[in-house]
Amino acid sequence: MRPSTPGTTEYVSQRHSCVTSRAMEKLLFLLVLLRGSYCHTEAEDLSGKVFVFPRRSDVDNVKLIPSHYHSGLDAMTICLQFLSGDKDDSGQTIFSMATTDHHNSPLLYKHADRYMVYMPDTTVVFWGLPNELNKWQSFCFTWASNTGLVQLWVDGVGSGKQLAHREGHIKAEPSIIIGQDQDNYGGGFSEGNSFIGLIKDVHVWDKVITNCEIHRFENGSTFNPGNVMNWNRLDFKISGFAVLEKEKGC
Ligand SMILES: *[C@@H]1O[C@H](CO)[C@@H](O)[C@H](O)[C@H]1NC(C)=O
Repeated sequence: MRPSTPGTTEYVSQRHSCVTSRAMEKLLFLLVLLRGSYCHTEAEDLSGKVFVFPRRSDVDNVKLIPSHYHSGLDAMTICLQFLSGDKDDSGQTIFSMATTDHHNSPLLYKHADRYMVYMPDTTVVFWGLPNELNKWQSFCFTWASNTGLVQLWVDGVGSGKQLAHREGHIKAEPSIIIGQDQDNYGGGFSEGNSFIGLIKDVHVWDKVITNCEIHRFENGSTFNPGNVMNWNRLDFKISGFAVLEKEKGC
């Protein structure tokens, strides 16, 4: 039997603290005028938690909000851990960053036998990296504008380097989404590119971090968290159906 499908309502997590105290209401009224909402989002420490995407859809996604906006990016490192049991031919999105200039800035994508990196001007394919079903995989992507070099690291294995978006620039205020591929800024989702599985430990830096730091991310040592996005202090918004769950020990 098919399980009933949850609606497309927006689930806003409990961390959005809604102040109910009457004494605060008048004061809040002014803030509401400025913010347009009673609820305000606060960054949360997500260590020990995972986002669960339990179905393919063209709706379910989590928007990750950077801790501060830069004037754009001329280099970056994106690291996260994912687990998926899906090997559908169409593949799936691991991470989608879009700007108002280009929706693939970058798109990090996985097939059963290869990884793809879509940048504004180029698409590059990475073969032969670890790619297993139902296993947590440590995944990092690096790019630097001055050299145009892009590289992937999966489970501590570094790929060869390829060329994309040399002398390019990633415009400020990118829209960062997991669970879906953005084909326009903040939207344009399709079920065939959605993600089904688990994602945790997302960090983004505005530079290429050292191989040593990537190893530390991968092997569970302490590392310097992302300065653009930090899993330990992350603001996010769930749309459609996705569950933020505590990772259970034994
Ligand atoms: C993790 O990797 C770093 C950098 O290569 C290394 O210094 C450290 O000893 C490693 N830790 C473990 C637990 O393997």
